[in-house]
Amino acid sequence: MNLESALRFSHTLLAQAVQPGDTVIDATVGNGNDTIYLASAVGKTGRVFGFDVQESALKETQTQLTLTGLTAQTTLIHDGHEHIEHHVPEDTQLAAAIFNLGYLPGSDKSVITHGKTTIAAISQCLSLLVRGGLVIVVSYYGHPGGQDELAQLQRYLKGLPQKQFQVLTYQFINQQNEPPILFAIQKR
Ligand SMILES: C[S@@+](CC[C@H](N)C(=O)[O-])C[C@H]1O[C@@H](n2cnc3c(N)ncnc32)[C@H](O)[C@@H]1O
Repeated sequence: MNLESALRFSHTLLAQAVQPGDTVIDATVGNGNDTIYLASAVGKTGRVFGFDVQESALKETQTQLTLTGLTAQTTLIHDGHEHIEHHVPEDTQLAAAIFNLGYLPGSDKSVITHGKTTIAAISQCLSLLVRGGLVIVVSYYGHPGGQDELAQLQRYLKGLPQKQFQVLTYQFINQQNEPPILFAIQKR
């Protein structure tokens, strides 16, 4: 048995929270790895809402979804995740959401997620979350602006009321080069 990377562990957690027919959010689509994983997990009776501010990333993901036969259950939205409430119905029973923070490898490194908008988006997801549902945040913070976002995020997550949410962190603490940190927020 090997301890899983933060990225792999995010899918292990999602696998337990997401069932066919569920509604979920990929808040940072990028190359679409999580979108494809989620679209497969919810199946044709479920719904994935995917957000990204980079149209080129969404187009590439749309191509991958078409090739894998997963378009029917997926809605890709070219907008910031801080506007989730403008696109996702307010009576949605959200089973899970995932955020991969930072910049998209291989693309414009100046397009990064930011603490204020990330926290606004997490807060909107938490208000739609079902009991037992999960919001997973994988934070990469080695780039300019990353530490600032991480500090804001940790402050926000530590302040979430314990009676309503439990918050987990997962990180290899003896690795070089700022290993990613996974946060998992579960609604009680
Ligand atoms: C680390 S990448 C995501 C990687 C992705 N999960 C994948 O599988 O390839 C972060 C993404 O967040 C996007 N992003 C930055 N600010 C955003 C915002 N306010 N709303 C939605 N997406 C945003 C970037 O364009 C980038 O594609």
